[in-house]
Amino acid sequence: MTRCWSCGEVVDDADRYHPACLVQLFGLRALPELDVDTAQLQTLALAMVGRTSISGVQKKLSVRLDHRRRTLQIAVDGDRYILKPQAGTFAHLPENEWLTQRIAAMAGVKVPPCALISLRDGTLAYIVRRFDRTDDGGKLAMEDFCQLAELAPADKYEASAEQCGKLVRRHANEPLIELLRLYRQFVFAWWVGNGDMHLKNLALLRHEDGRYRLSPAYDQLNTHLALPKDRMALSLCGKRDNVKPETLRELAQRFAIGQRAAERVLREIHAALPRALALVAEAPLPEAMRETYAAMLQSRVPPVPPSEA
Ligand SMILES: Nc1ncnc2c1ncn2[C@@H]1O[C@H](COP(=O)(O)OP(=O)(O)O)[C@@H](O)[C@H]1O
Ligand SMILES: [Mg+2]
Ligand SMILES: [Zn+2]
Repeated sequence: MTRCWSCGEVVDDADRYHPACLVQLFGLRALPELDVDTAQLQTLALAMVGRTSISGVQKKLSVRLDHRRRTLQIAVDGDRYILKPQAGTFAHLPENEWLTQRIAAMAGVKVPPCALISLRDGTLAYIVRRFDRTDDGGKLAMEDFCQLAELAPADKYEASAEQCGKLVRRHANEPLIELLRLYRQFVFAWWVGNGDMHLKNLALLRHEDGRYRLSPAYDQLNTHLALPKDRMALSLCGKRDNVKPETLRELAQRFAIGQRAAERVLREIHAALPRALALVAEAPLPEAMRETYAAMLQSRVPPVPPSEA
């Protein structure tokens, strides 16, 4: 069975992607040729955007889609896509990020269109469509939680989920809806072992209607595949580890989201487990990483709330 490298669902053996998925990501029914390989990426360090990731050195490039030539070109000024190739430090970060984004979608976390893409040298890179661009090439304002909290980038770990909740309450136009989304993102981060959800990996996006909403989720991955004992970047009710179902319920109370709404989130994440495990089992990762990922999903999945039992 072959899985689409964009949506993760089953696809005809001959194809690597569903045409519809390519349309959603690139606006094209065929895969555009990516005009770059890892060796070139090294020499194109000038085009580097952003700073560091968990690896500290995973280079990211912004790429632009040239419709006429069907080529994704590197653009120094940044454009419609962000490309994250293999890193020098930890293996398989692009595959890990893609897989985690797919599981996020299953768990009801909003994610931007993304895919794995094979570079000319055969290595896989993660490519994601920017959500801060409009169809006419305009730019949407984005403020990450570090900026909202008026903290320096170096202090991106110096906060808690509860403080993030307060930022959303203060700055989002519809706080109750956005708090529920933030809650889902924190429960999800714990579930998949994402120890890198710090203040710069959360942001509010100013939409074209002028309203501030939580941005689609980005930079999500299971950091335990690289760092086995990794803890949460931000504490959840005082805990960066050993988060229990009670901790998740307490967080819902701190966010002041209704118990029923919170339980629906936990239930939906619980319900995503079988599909998530099926995808992990076939993900393009070494067996040991697939096993670590699956074990984490199984051990941390929120139990079905009592109201459903
Ligand atoms: N799909 C996206 N659309 C728009 N901006 C994004 C997207 N993904 C990431 N970003 C922005 O780019 C920055 C770096 O990307 P990220 O995935 O966090 O890489 P890193 O691993 O280097 O932290 C993020 O902090 C965010 O501001
Ligand atoms: Mg980041
Ligand atoms: Zn697909």
